[in-house]
Amino acid sequence: MPGRNVLALVLALCLLLPCAGQHHQEMAERIMTDTPVIDGHNDLPWQLLKRFNNQLGLPDANLTQLEGTHTNIPKLRSGHVGGQFWSVYVPCETQNKDAVKRTLEQIDVVHRMCELYPETFTCVVDSDGIQNAFASGKVASLIGVEGGHSIDSSLGVLRTFYHLGVRYMTLTHSCNTPWADNWLVDTEEEQPVHHGLSSFGEMVLEEMNRLGMIVDLAHVSEETMKVVLRLSKAPVIFSHSSAFQLCPHRRNVPNDVLRLVASTGSLVMVNFYNAYVTCSATATLADVADHMDHVKKVAGYESVGFGGDYDGVTGLPTGLEDVSTYPALVAELLARNWTEVEVKAALAGNLLRVFRKVEEVKTSLRGTAPRETPIAFEELERTCRTSYGYTNIADTAWIPRAGLLLAPALLCSLLS
Ligand SMILES: *[C@@H]1O[C@H](CO)[C@@H](O)[C@H](O)[C@H]1NC(C)=O
Ligand SMILES: *[C@@H]1O[C@H](CO)[C@@H](O)[C@H](O)[C@H]1NC(C)=O
Ligand SMILES: [Zn+2]
Repeated sequence: MPGRNVLALVLALCLLLPCAGQHHQEMAERIMTDTPVIDGHNDLPWQLLKRFNNQLGLPDANLTQLEGTHTNIPKLRSGHVGGQFWSVYVPCETQNKDAVKRTLEQIDVVHRMCELYPETFTCVVDSDGIQNAFASGKVASLIGVEGGHSIDSSLGVLRTFYHLGVRYMTLTHSCNTPWADNWLVDTEEEQPVHHGLSSFGEMVLEEMNRLGMIVDLAHVSEETMKVVLRLSKAPVIFSHSSAFQLCPHRRNVPNDVLRLVASTGSLVMVNFYNAYVTCSATATLADVADHMDHVKKVAGYESVGFGGDYDGVTGLPTGLEDVSTYPALVAELLARNWTEVEVKAALAGNLLRVFRKVEEVKTSLRGTAPRETPIAFEELERTCRTSYGYTNIADTAWIPRAGLLLAPALLCSLLS
């Protein structure tokens, strides 16, 4: 009876291959309905600046039908995204120029996203807010500043960012700040200046611990990673970094640092960018799962998270093309025998644990006075700067090489 054999063959194949995949996909959807993903880094605000100069009222900027980006509202819904740290990135080019103003404008655009689409986004500032958003089916929207250049070496600006809802800061982007070294010093494209943090940088870290702002070590140098993991009173995150062992790119996290991540209760939210996943132009969903497996193997499942870097990168793996694809990655982890407990931890539990611990440290430091010591004026690039508040510094004149006296405003226009 050939008919029966064919049926048996189909059944056998179905059990072994596509139906198994189907089973994991369904299980992923079920798990994520209860525990959606909290992603560490998404650059949609940067896309809104580049494409629309932040004019959310333009018809093409409507987030329910936004095209040409990795992120829009229907894709967030299919992807079961329940929490997102929106990056208020501004390029290193703005350092010592208009970084603060541009960062404020990116913070504003996130606030306006929440106001314009209240049925989708809810701007939250603490771990309870994330859980309430889960319960009401909204995307908990949080703000991450990507690069210490955004505070222009000012603790006052750092504190003001906190008041505006910023809940993590990446200590550097791809440039040194006057107080911290970035990953490019590990490629020798830039010189190490601080070997981690300067004394002012240590004060920035202390102030972040006191405020309850999560410290993010994506983009920093290896020395900066190690100094911060040693000094921080609260666990830290890598909001969008992968494993150096699998792809030796300096943006990734080496194994010895992964072990410090484990011992401090910290978190690596794995980046999907092809260049950090395979160190080449192409990659697949399985390659990203390899990174998650590696972090889990070296640092434990409590150190793994998702940090897609959507809308901040050009090359994404086959199978992870946009924010609708997180369930496919979860299905792959299930196929690799990750337990439901481990998957839920990576999706949301680990980030919530770190955030709660950061909040506890804030509470324990209540009564500690804000840091007030300003950065030394000599540590700042002087072009275009006034020196109000600093004593013994001539702020109306500056002596350039030729020995001429020039007003700062004139110098600024000459040198910039
Ligand atoms: C976006 O488009 C949808 C569908 O056309 C419309 O209902 C909604 O009002 C628009 N939202 C905004 C903020 O423009
Ligand atoms: C998952 O577990 C099953 C059953 O124990 C085993 O047969 C399979 O080889 C495991 N798969 C992986 C990728 O470890
Ligand atoms: Zn980045």
